[in-house]
Amino acid sequence: MPVTLSHTGDMNPDEFRQYGRQLIDWIADYLTHPEQYPVLSRSQPGDIKAQLPAAPPEQPEPMDKILADFENILLPGVTHWNHPGFFAYFSVTGSMPGILGELLMAALNVNAMLWKTSPAATELEDVALDWLRQMLGLPAGLDGVIMDTASISSMVAIAAAREALDLDVRRRGLAGRADLPRLRLYVSDQTHSSVEKGAITLGLGQENVVKIPSDTDFRMRVEALETAVRSDIAAGYKPFFVCATVGTTSTTSIDPVPEIAAIAQKYNLWLHVDGAYGGMAAIVPEMRHVLAGAEQADSIVVNPHKWLFTPIDLSALYTRHPDVLKRAFSLVPDYLRTAEGDAAAVKNLMDYGVQLGRRFRALKLWMVIRTYGQTGLAARLREHVRLGQQFAGWVDESPNFERMAPTPFSTVCFRACPASVPEAALNGLNEGLLTAVNETGEIYLSHTNLGGEFTLRLAIGNIRTEERHVARAWECLREGLTRLQKPPGLL
Ligand SMILES: Cc1ncc(COP(=O)(O)O)c(C=O)c1O
Repeated sequence: MPVTLSHTGDMNPDEFRQYGRQLIDWIADYLTHPEQYPVLSRSQPGDIKAQLPAAPPEQPEPMDKILADFENILLPGVTHWNHPGFFAYFSVTGSMPGILGELLMAALNVNAMLWKTSPAATELEDVALDWLRQMLGLPAGLDGVIMDTASISSMVAIAAAREALDLDVRRRGLAGRADLPRLRLYVSDQTHSSVEKGAITLGLGQENVVKIPSDTDFRMRVEALETAVRSDIAAGYKPFFVCATVGTTSTTSIDPVPEIAAIAQKYNLWLHVDGAYGGMAAIVPEMRHVLAGAEQADSIVVNPHKWLFTPIDLSALYTRHPDVLKRAFSLVPDYLRTAEGDAAAVKNLMDYGVQLGRRFRALKLWMVIRTYGQTGLAARLREHVRLGQQFAGWVDESPNFERMAPTPFSTVCFRACPASVPEAALNGLNEGLLTAVNETGEIYLSHTNLGGEFTLRLAIGNIRTEERHVARAWECLREGLTRLQKPPGLL
């Protein structure tokens, strides 16, 4: 039987209660035993679609059937980011308080485009982001705004930096303007691709994203940055933006932010700090130094949806120039004018980015921060770093594995390198090892390429990952290597 309806045409509230309770029970069980599923989905391309009707249902369908299809058809196609053996990319957490925040957010379904369209959403965003700023040890005067992802945060920061140049780009655009120099941005060869994508989107041109080489520890080489800026100026370009990263995507290296800040100041560049993952470690008092230099940034991005137990999506963009950000993006048609906005008495969130509509995302961050408190958050991050360092130690002690980069946080880059395997065969061996361990369904690791070498990455960041899970990952890797090294006849 399809659900019964209330007079509004929506679901009958009693049935909503019944299914709501059933789902909360399901979620609680799921989060308690995510290991019952293989961490990496075993679906083959097209498997899921093949089980779903191509046309929408003509008539209402029973909720029991919908939920059964969720469990039987969709769940096998889910890779379980909540699994404690999820060590790929950057491991994240949908924590229970964060999920409750999402539930309330969905129920209220406000659109926080204007202060007036939900004052609490706008004001809580200010409060929660200011709490986060304080926890990170960043100075007052940095104004925060929530974006969906770090990619958008960085793109918006580039747009603000361009606006700060007063080149009238907003009105006249860039194309066909002989009066404009070519604008140049500087990143390192380790910077996340999203910064380059932002430059592409903003019409700045991929050619104008200058990739500064990094040193042997994968940190931007500051003298190479200065040389590039100077030679660009001499060639008639206009350098305007540099991105320093705290926790690069491949190895989690930390760029020398204070030195990059000095170059930014000398050449009048907008300094953007991408701390999407690593910046969060500054919440741990003894790791606060990771954000050294960020206090001089024009903008900073950190992602609570990566390493602060907040369900995706929630990225925090801070800037000391909210007026410039607003100048870049504010465009108020008549139908969106309000008395408070006209009087500049409130912040209207639609003025600080591309999109009009905004979810009440601050709610989940506020619930996470309040539920765990500063010390609780720091304790969990500290434990992840301890586990990462412990794993790095096991790699260092093993004659069959080696570390490929320093481990400043909880992500370890390493590879298998048994003496019996020639250097030229190591990439193939490690690729095979990655496939073998991921096929177990117990752990999921990802990889990167460091100087042409296929490198395994183990990233710890899930609230449910305990020491035993990391130990099991190490066991799977050693077992996998032994299996791969056995002569074929013995397999
Ligand atoms: C350093 C860094 N910046 C930016 C991003 C992009 O993050 P998002 O998925 O929030 O756009 C990532 C993703 O892993 C990252 O590692």
